[in-house]
Amino acid sequence: MSIEKPRTLRRLHTRLASFRQLEVFLTVAEHLSVGAAAQSLHLAQPTVSTQLGRLADQVGMPLFEQLGRRLYLTPAGECLQAGCREIFEALARTDMQLSRLAGAQTGCLRVATVTTAKSLLPAYLGRFSAAYPDIDIEFQIANRDTLIARLKDNRDELYVFSHPPTELDIVAEPFADNPLIVVAPADHPLAGQTGLRWEDLAAYPFLIRESGSGTRLALEKTCREYAWSLTPRMTIASNEAIRACVVSGLGLTVLSRHAVADELGRRLVELDVAGFPLRNTWYVVHWRGKALSPVAREFLAFLQERETPA
Ligand code: PGA
Repeated sequence: MSIEKPRTLRRLHTRLASFRQLEVFLTVAEHLSVGAAAQSLHLAQPTVSTQLGRLADQVGMPLFEQLGRRLYLTPAGECLQAGCREIFEALARTDMQLSRLAGAQTGCLRVATVTTAKSLLPAYLGRFSAAYPDIDIEFQIANRDTLIARLKDNRDELYVFSHPPTELDIVAEPFADNPLIVVAPADHPLAGQTGLRWEDLAAYPFLIRESGSGTRLALEKTCREYAWSLTPRMTIASNEAIRACVVSGLGLTVLSRHAVADELGRRLVELDVAGFPLRNTWYVVHWRGKALSPVAREFLAFLQERETPA
């Protein structure tokens, strides 16, 4: 006589239908929307709902709950999401290793950067992609705080910060300078003057990045160190919007030279202020114990070898 075990006691892999089902689940979990997941997977919405229903049956617990119009992961859903991320990462690594054994340089580079580095990274990515044309690139951009949250969730393989978090067990390798400069519109009364002091800027409105931004963090730290006063008139959550406001004469700002390089000498100028540029460094970051894919390792080496692109 055979005694059948209750379903939840049978091991998970014997109950799951397919990797495709897990992929459907993970996509819904990342978007927290069946419609958005169906669109990204090129599936019909009812197909996605059916797959989710089957998976919840196989797991033996609900994976999502709908409260009002929003979808939330249940604790079982969160647990499955973490497991699925690891499974798909391991599969992607294996896929690349197999491609390597077959002599091909393929795979996907998953890199996430702080907003300010988005002006710098494309030049590196362009050269990397020219050298490895079969490698796909997933490039995420967020401010420093959001990027730290992605790092904690292990969402990407490599991260670019100029202020890597100090409290996490990560490896941070420097690869380029990130000078922060004082920026003014080209027709500003201080433009072209030499030997300015921070106090000379006090007569003009000042624009600053949002809290959570690494640029702001660096400026606030310097102001504390030198006891400089900092009374911003506007807080703006984007380098591009700050640039546009400075061009329109709304105030002065401090930004990375990389974020304004194409406008310097045209509609914007760098002011000659004592203590500036603030010297910062770009770091490429990953978890210390993380098994990096061959593509990520290739990109790390590539960053170390290259001069900063002009
Ligand atoms: P930010 O980060 O784009 O969030 O300002 C830049 C940095 O980390 O220095």
